[in-house]
Amino acid sequence: MLRDTVSGLDRVLRTDIDIPKIVLVIGPPGSMKTSFCFSVMSRHLANSDQVGMYLTLEETSESHSRNMKSIGIPATENVVVSDFTDIRELEDIGDDDFPDYIALIEKMVRGFKQKHGKAFTMLAIDSLGALYSLMDDDASVRKSMYHFFKNMRDLGLFTMLIMEGSVSDGRFYSGSEAFLSDGVVYLGMDSTKGKITRFVQVEKMRACEHSMERHAVEVSKSGIQVLGPLLSN
Ligand SMILES: Nc1ncnc2c1ncn2[C@@H]1O[C@H](COP(=O)(O)OP(=O)(O)OP(=O)(O)O)[C@@H](O)[C@H]1O
Ligand SMILES: [Mg+2]
Repeated sequence: MLRDTVSGLDRVLRTDIDIPKIVLVIGPPGSMKTSFCFSVMSRHLANSDQVGMYLTLEETSESHSRNMKSIGIPATENVVVSDFTDIRELEDIGDDDFPDYIALIEKMVRGFKQKHGKAFTMLAIDSLGALYSLMDDDASVRKSMYHFFKNMRDLGLFTMLIMEGSVSDGRFYSGSEAFLSDGVVYLGMDSTKGKITRFVQVEKMRACEHSMERHAVEVSKSGIQVLGPLLSN
């Protein structure tokens, strides 16, 4: 299911994966995390009888849809894009509260599952950083995430979690998310001779034969495309 969603991704993933799975998509600002995840979701679900939920927590659904259209990733009615407003509407949240957003997201996901049943197969949360920044206690957040991961697997979902970070700033494996996930996809920027090249690198993907090399990523008219391995490797 994952191999066919982004053009050229089969250069990196030699075998396909089964759901349920939790995949962490990590990278520095502007590394195409949002474009990659939305592309995976809309390409997999378009013209199918399945549905997905894309939760955009860094921007509104409208701004997200505008950006994706500009990059050439088409919207499909099989993907429902929700934002913080939709989450806050689930409960009466006062301005001074630190609501348990993880519990609210789970409530929203379960409601969607109840509505769509087996047809609901994909979920994306963009991003964990935005989610954590609105919550109070770090230690309890990590604990809640452990249960959240388990619950998403039990619901049979392919879940993509977006996280900001890079190998060089040491934030990469600081949390437990990467260990708890079935897969870690790193989207990075390689800077040589004043030129920045975007790349994708699969660090981990359970039950999948994959390349560990950095492969160049380019934006074409029809969205993002994975090219060959970076020569500077
Ligand atoms: N129409 C376009 N054609 C080519 N490249 C584009 C276009 N629109 C945006 N971009 C590139 O895509 C980048 C943003 O991609 P995206 O939003 O997927 O990244 P991101 O990793 O999610 O960023 P952030 O960390 O801000 O969330 C922009 O910084 C820009 O370089
Ligand atoms: Mg983004």
